Amino acid sequence: MTNEMLEKISLPRHIGVIMDGNGRWAKQQGLKRSEGHKAGAKVFRTICDYAAELGIECMTFYAFSTENWKRPADEVSAIMNLFRDYLSEAKEREEENKAKGMRIRYIGDRAALPEDIVNMIDLLESRSADKHSITINLAVNYGGRDELLHAVKEIAKKVEAGELKSDDISLKDIDGNLYTAGLPDPDLIIRPSGEYRLSNFLIWQAAYSEFWFSDILWPDFTTDDLDKAIIDYSNRNRRFGGV
Ligand code: FPP
Repeated sequence: MTNEMLEKISLPRHIGVIMDGNGRWAKQQGLKRSEGHKAGAKVFRTICDYAAELGIECMTFYAFSTENWKRPADEVSAIMNLFRDYLSEAKEREEENKAKGMRIRYIGDRAALPEDIVNMIDLLESRSADKHSITINLAVNYGGRDELLHAVKEIAKKVEAGELKSDDISLKDIDGNLYTAGLPDPDLIIRPSGEYRLSNFLIWQAAYSEFWFSDILWPDFTTDDLDKAIIDYSNRNRRFGGV
């Protein structure tokens, strides 16, 4: 996007991306599904860097859902290996990422993830927590319903402990107990690959999000496509229930 264009549009603060279509892309190319995820992970890196350049505050990528464990074991382990690669690369590139002001954060249920992945996430999160201009949220073993259940349990614990009255539970308590606590709600949610659903992604936070759908398969998604989505978003009239 040119600087001139950037000045004209209103940038979303937070963009959510459902990285869909890797399997179909691989099939089209006569490759294994895991190759589709590998190509998808490459595009993920390109889009992260480009979003940082544009000045987007936060990007959330849906990389693995609470339902994705149902996939064949070799596919699940190939995806986990891609996370390992990315996390260890991010550790190596710590200085570079810091210079870009990139903070990496995890959202989801860590309990079922391999221990080495959890340790790498913890390390990266604590080291990149301070100065940042863009937050990259990786949603892995993430499900919106699971997130809400987790928040309800946290609130119930406070009620049980006498720290909060049930009548006083507010929207802030719910927001504050989500994995995304402290982040703005997504302004824009992008789903490629010709599917028109949210698939349990940020279901609470998406109450007023704008949606951008496209037939492009995620491994074919380019920075130009991100530009198109942002320009379309910028032309929408968001009313948040008002007039
Ligand atoms: C959905 O496409 C994609 C996934 C379930 C996995 C996405 C994971 C990656 C892009 C790798 C992530 C790695 C990092 C480092 C973030 P699909 O397999 O459902 O595609 P299909 O609908 O065409 O079969």
